[in-house]
Amino acid sequence: MQQTPSTVGAVVVLAAGQGTRMRSRTPKVLHHLGGRSMLGHVLAAAEPLGAGRTVVVVGSGREAVAEHLTAVAPHATAVVQEQQNGSGHAAAVALDALGEVSGAVLIVNGDAPLLRAETLHALVQAHRQAGDVLTVLTAEVDDPTGLGRIVRDGGGAVRAIVEEKDADPATRAITEVNAGVYVGDAAAVREALTRVGSSNQQGEQYLTDVLGLLVADGAPVGGHRAPDAADTLGCNDQRELAERRRMLNDRVLDDLMRAGVVVIDPMTTWVDVTAEVAAEAVLQPGTQVLGASTIGAGAVVGPDTTLVDVEVGEGASVVRSHCQLAVIGPAATVGPFSYLRAGTELARGAKVGAFVETKNVQVGEDSKVPHLSYVGDATIGRGSNIGAATVFVNYDGVVKHRTTVGDHVRVGSDTMLVAPVTIGDGAYTAAGSVITNDVPPGAMGVARARQRNVAGWVRRRRPRTPAAEAAAAAGGAPDGPATDTGTAASTAPSPGTGDEQQGQP
Ligand code: UD1
Ligand code: CA
Repeated sequence: MQQTPSTVGAVVVLAAGQGTRMRSRTPKVLHHLGGRSMLGHVLAAAEPLGAGRTVVVVGSGREAVAEHLTAVAPHATAVVQEQQNGSGHAAAVALDALGEVSGAVLIVNGDAPLLRAETLHALVQAHRQAGDVLTVLTAEVDDPTGLGRIVRDGGGAVRAIVEEKDADPATRAITEVNAGVYVGDAAAVREALTRVGSSNQQGEQYLTDVLGLLVADGAPVGGHRAPDAADTLGCNDQRELAERRRMLNDRVLDDLMRAGVVVIDPMTTWVDVTAEVAAEAVLQPGTQVLGASTIGAGAVVGPDTTLVDVEVGEGASVVRSHCQLAVIGPAATVGPFSYLRAGTELARGAKVGAFVETKNVQVGEDSKVPHLSYVGDATIGRGSNIGAATVFVNYDGVVKHRTTVGDHVRVGSDTMLVAPVTIGDGAYTAAGSVITNDVPPGAMGVARARQRNVAGWVRRRRPRTPAAEAAAAAGGAPDGPATDTGTAASTAPSPGTGDEQQGQP
């Protein structure tokens, strides 16, 4: 949505409250939903207003909240409210810290994670158009329980905000509520806050009392009804948090589907607000697209897949897998049952298959790690095949080492590549090898014991067993010398890379 910048001089987020009802050691505003903390959502909604300064009032869990702020909104300043004497006191602390504010100040509760930039923008516009000293965002709700009621006079003008605990039955019956978002003239609000008392049911200084005081002064105040009440919902306990999380997800999925993303089962698909999914991508049931993940056009993700900060290229496929901080190239395939860890980069057309774990590895174009392998700290060239059950032995118990695999390499099944080691272009390794030395380009690396057959062993040492009987029926000799079947390599015209595609051009 195109927005003209609105003149808000400063943003104040109230986030010092304990959030007792969350029953959690985590400060309330740090609880997560849809890819951000509650506080992060509020800051993101306020960001497009382009305020010169943003102040967040912290108190309960102040260290954690301030640290989080540094990470997600370094432009914002934390201001400490030593004692939680109420939202009015918190706002006063913030305005003191701000000093002179040019233009209006937006004051917003930190526990309103569904707020949208458009809603704040419309509130500020309404405030400016009306020429009010203070404008409060309101919402018409079915169940106003626990919220401040908006009292209007016969002409519809806002007269007061009354907290539920202080309301008489007639006032409680009002279904228009205070959303906890206010835009006002900083000097006027600051002055009115000095007059706010605490003679109410909670013994707190209510920010909401400012409105009534300004009305009594004869100052123009207003209420702007949010077009969608859902935007204004607060979040006070775990049940509400789960509901808000679901609502946020529905909103994200609605937007994606409108833009052409195929969501097979919205009930079990979770996409963070921070993720991006291109049109014609398909999200199968049980899929989570989290963090800064991006999914390209035509990619198919899921079922039952979690992506955290993963880039999925166009036309790629990721099935029943868990992937984090990875890049999956265009037309690459992952899964089922793959675990891609940080630093995994699959080039175009690469494949990581069933029961494969990867970490800090570049897999070149069209290279394949089809089954049962661990690939860590490695570079694999293009067109190579890593046989089933290969392990990149990257850890010597103290430090990690890298493995380099060239282009068009065939690593045999059950190869241990003991890093640091390099397999040259076009080289092979024999199945079951423990490769500790480099294999030059085009060579076959063989590093395994020779096979010895002890003839007749079963009939001598396991007589009268079904195996011995089977051996006898097959004409196996009851005795005879052990035979050496030759070098490992000569028994392996095919090194046994364990991939069904082995030998294909
Ligand atoms: C508040 C409003 C209520 C409104 C509702 C919307 C007041 C008195 N009431 O009620 O009219 O309908 O929000 O959700 O404001 N805070 C501080 N320091 C304090 C106390 C609170 O920073 O000392 C912060 C909290 O972290 C919170 C906000 O102020 O973000 C509101 O406080 P809260 O206790 O959640 O108020 P509500 O009872 O929800
Ligand atoms: Ca609240």
